[in-house]
Amino acid sequence: MNIAFIGIGQVGSALAGRLVALGHTVTIAARDRHSKSVQAALAKYPQLQIADPPEAIASAEVVFLATPFAANQTALAEAGNLSGKILVDCTNPVGSNLTHGLKSEQSGGEFVQNLVPDAKVVKAFTIYGFENFENNTYPGYGNLKPAMLIAGNDAAAKQVIANLCIAMDWEPVDTGNLATSLHLEHMTLLWIKMARVQGLGAGFVWARLQK
Ligand SMILES: NC(=O)c1ccc[n+]([C@@H]2O[C@H](COP(=O)([O-])OP(=O)(O)OC[C@H]3O[C@@H](n4cnc5c(N)ncnc54)[C@H](OP(=O)(O)O)[C@@H]3O)[C@@H](O)[C@H]2O)c1
Repeated sequence: MNIAFIGIGQVGSALAGRLVALGHTVTIAARDRHSKSVQAALAKYPQLQIADPPEAIASAEVVFLATPFAANQTALAEAGNLSGKILVDCTNPVGSNLTHGLKSEQSGGEFVQNLVPDAKVVKAFTIYGFENFENNTYPGYGNLKPAMLIAGNDAAAKQVIANLCIAMDWEPVDTGNLATSLHLEHMTLLWIKMARVQGLGAGFVWARLQK
């Protein structure tokens, strides 16, 4: 599959590295080919391709958005035509003191969808730290896989992303439409508080047990 990344920092490079190792063609949509994050990602994963954003997006079936939330508007405006593309929103609106950056009045996922109304936005790869996107192996749990909660309005787009989750050893859990992103974004705040503020560290994830 042709996959493009807008933003190739901690989250983008972790996911891009996994996807390129699975045999996908992964292209950095680079506004600045010489930036530190682009150069670091290319050094770590030399199989990554690089192109100007509109060119990278034009040939991609799936586009990952992994920019700081405040940069989303500019980054998407420079990305070219996202019409009909699956856009995986990995971004989190995080406000001061670990509050929701949009005051919980609207999800970040819907905010992103409003910026690109013709794209098929799927919220995914948000609820844990980037360390888990790089390595989600948790030995000793048998067949139980770490859960990746996703949300989106387009069922077919969600299935494409669910399949990518499975390939990357996650159990995808479809939580509902894009408005549900709000709850995923609150889960993110909980994870950050536990892992990074209260000192549990990044090495934990959630799993689903179901009767
Ligand atoms: N860090 C985590 O553990 C984690 C986990 C889950 C979700 N998230 C969310 O994922 C997103 C990215 O986080 P991160 O930690 O990966 O950030 P990061 O390491 O700072 O990387 C941000 C990337 O976005 C690019 N960027 C910044 N402004 C841009 C713009 N206007 N247009 C295009 N690209 C731009 C940067 O490029 P340059 O280097 O060229 O500036 C860089 O490649 C955030 O929304 C964050 O909330 C983070």
